[in-house]
Formats: sequence, C-alpha cells, structure tokens
Amino acid sequence: MKLNPARAQRLAVSRSGLLGALLLTLATALPAARAGEIEVLHWWTSGGEARAAQALKASMQAKGHSWKDFAVAGSGGDSAITVLRSRVVSGNAPAAAQIKGPSLQAWAREGVLTSINEVARAERWDDLLPQVVSDQMKYRGDYIAVPVNVHRVNWLWVNPAVFARVGAKVPSSWDEFFAAAETLKKAGVIALAHGGQSWQDLTLLETVTLGVGGAEFYRQAFVLREASALNSPTMDKVLSTYKRIKPFTDRNAPGRDWNLATAMVIKGEAAMQLMGDWAKGEFLAVGSQPGKGFICTPAPGTAKSFIFVVDSFAMFKLKSPANSAAQKDLASAVMSPEFQEAFNLSKGSIPVRLGMKMDRFDDCAKASAQEFSTAAKQASLLPSIANGMAAPSSIEWALKDVVSQFWNSDKMSTAEAMKRMVEASRRQ
Ligand code: GAL
Repeated sequence: MKLNPARAQRLAVSRSGLLGALLLTLATALPAARAGEIEVLHWWTSGGEARAAQALKASMQAKGHSWKDFAVAGSGGDSAITVLRSRVVSGNAPAAAQIKGPSLQAWAREGVLTSINEVARAERWDDLLPQVVSDQMKYRGDYIAVPVNVHRVNWLWVNPAVFARVGAKVPSSWDEFFAAAETLKKAGVIALAHGGQSWQDLTLLETVTLGVGGAEFYRQAFVLREASALNSPTMDKVLSTYKRIKPFTDRNAPGRDWNLATAMVIKGEAAMQLMGDWAKGEFLAVGSQPGKGFICTPAPGTAKSFIFVVDSFAMFKLKSPANSAAQKDLASAVMSPEFQEAFNLSKGSIPVRLGMKMDRFDDCAKASAQEFSTAAKQASLLPSIANGMAAPSSIEWALKDVVSQFWNSDKMSTAEAMKRMVEASRRQ
C-alpha cells in the first residue's frame, strides 16, 4: 500500500473543514521568519494515518515552509526505521523522524539528534506533558524529540451489525470472547480479523497478557522482563489463550496489513479486531461513527488498564540554518493545541498535551483520556512492548520473532516458547 500524497491531501481537505481553519489560523498567527524545507520520515500511509499526517503537512506549509514527505509504507514502522538508518549512515538525515520510546535514547547516544530546548523552554513543555512522556523525550536533560499523541493498544473493535445478525454478545471477558467467537464461526463469519505480521502477532499477545495476567504481571513480563514471569504458569496460560484465538482468524491472515484487517471489520467480513486505536482512524476515514458503524470496547479483561504508545518525532542535526529554523517551527506546531486537536481527531489517538478540551472528540477518545489518567494513578499505565515503547529494539525484535513462530507453528510447545522468550529478553 503506497501513500498517494495528492489523494491524501484531497481526502483531508474535503473531509475536514477544520483543516482549512487551522491553516488560516497558523498562516496569520505565525508567519515564517525564514522559509525552510522540512523533511519528515513517517509510516502513516493508511487512510486514517494519511489524514492525520496531512494535518502536519498543512501546518508547516501554513508557516511558509516546504514539506518533503518521506513516507515509508509498512505498518508498525519496521521498514521505515531500516530506511532511516541507511539515510543517517550516509549523512543525509531528514529533519525529523517518527521514533518512539527507548529508541529515542539509542539514536541520541549516536550523536545524530539535536536539542530543541530553546522551543521547549520558551513554551514550558515540562508543564504541558505528563512526566512519563517528557522524560522519554529528553536525552541528558535536553529535549531531542516532540510527542504527538497517546494511543491505547488494548482495544477491541466490533462490527455491531454482524454481532446482531448472529445474536452474539460483545465480550468483556475471555470466556465471553470465545463464546461469541464460536457463535460467529458457526454462522460462517470470521470472528477476528488479524494481520499476520510479527508486530501484530506481538500486539495481540501483549493484549492477551494484560487480559489474562493483569497489569502487574504485564509489567514483570514485558517492562522488567523477569525470567520468573516470562517462564511461569501465568505465561503458560497467556500463551494457551493466545493460541486458542488462532482458529477464529482466517487463512489469509499471514502478511496482511493491519488496516486491511480493519477494513474486513468495516465491511462486515469479520466481526472483531484486537488492535490499537489507530484502527479507529480507519473507521472514521470512511465516515463510520462510534456506537453506530462500530463499537470500541476495552480488550477482554483489560478495562482498568492502559497499554500506551506515544508517537514522537526525533529531531536530527541539520546543516542549513533555514531548515533548522523550520525544524523548530515543526516542534512548536506539533505541541500547539490546534495541531494536537486536528491531528488526533483523525489519528484515533488522544492529545498528549495536558489540559486539552475533549469536547470535539468522540466517546472512544473520551474513554481513552479518562482511562489514561485513572491508569496513571493506579500503576496500570503500561508501555507497549510490540510498538516500541518498552524495550530496546534488539529485544523487541527477538520477542517478535519468537512470538510469531509460536503463533504460526503447530509444533512449538508453550514451554519451548517461554524458554525462548526468556532468551530473547536477554539480548543486548
Ligand atoms: C504504530 C504507531 C501508530 C500506528 C501503527 C500502525 O507503531 O505508533 O501511530 O501508525 O504503528 O501503523
């Protein structure tokens, strides 16, 4: 799937009057001191993602800068990061790149990122961000990245018409999930739309881990990566539950992009998807509304917990002063309330900036915002292991490999999978 920028632009402009207003506000309020070129690497190429990326492009163009889109298709960003690495190694880094979590520190250690403290101090970012987020955006006390949003991973997306047709009940526990899945399967419906790519296999496993083991177990297994959790009776139960899901997915799942799985739910070819709320962006992009065309509900057993992904842009060292100025404008625009609202309304996520009004957001986003603050207080706010938030990328990759092999193999036992997960978590 390739981004067609012209189409993405038409889509965004026609669907969002807000964008026009945003353009106007930014153009009048913040004229560019000096026009530069801003090249941004991202992997936001699906329908909802492209609409959101368009908001970023529009805000930069409104400041008089030229936008060079560096979109690398391949959901989850695995291909994008490979391309980024070769660009940086050859001394040709973009102004900004979609990099998250512990990887920010790893790139900063290589000395290729630049400080945006000037903007961050002037705008008092420390007061505008939850500390768990601002800490990740800094390297040795300097801001080297700007956060965009907060995604919640542990969601179940449901097509209510399909559920009504077969007489199934939307599940809130794993028992209910399997009961509904049986009913759907008997009626000839694909119960769960899944995309068999390793990051999606691990995304599904992390959600099952939270649902079956609870928040504290998730933390021990994927944040602290304790062998006593990764190889335990609880993980055995998690893996067995995970494997029980597979017969309710379809034969064409291997290799499928996540947004194509969402499209199956949209079209009623499948009844459910377990996926982060970037999936909501897909429903919204085709005009489907929460509570009507689709239902969002916490993944079974995870109502009070929140697995988070915070997307962010790391800022690279640049040679041209005009482009560096444009880069600072980008950082400032991303943190502005106007952008945080416009972008997140399309992306399916919620603003990362504190104190934002949520009245223009839908019920899924309002629930997400509510759970985000509740989970933070109850220590059930957890970083996603599958989406770059919890571990160095070498460990994340090794875990993705093991989990995918376990998902796809008829022969690998839970005991073998656990042993290999412990090994994967020791990678440097
Ligand atoms: C995640 C990213 C989300 C979404 C998703 C699918 O890694 O954080 O913003 O884009 O990939 O592409």
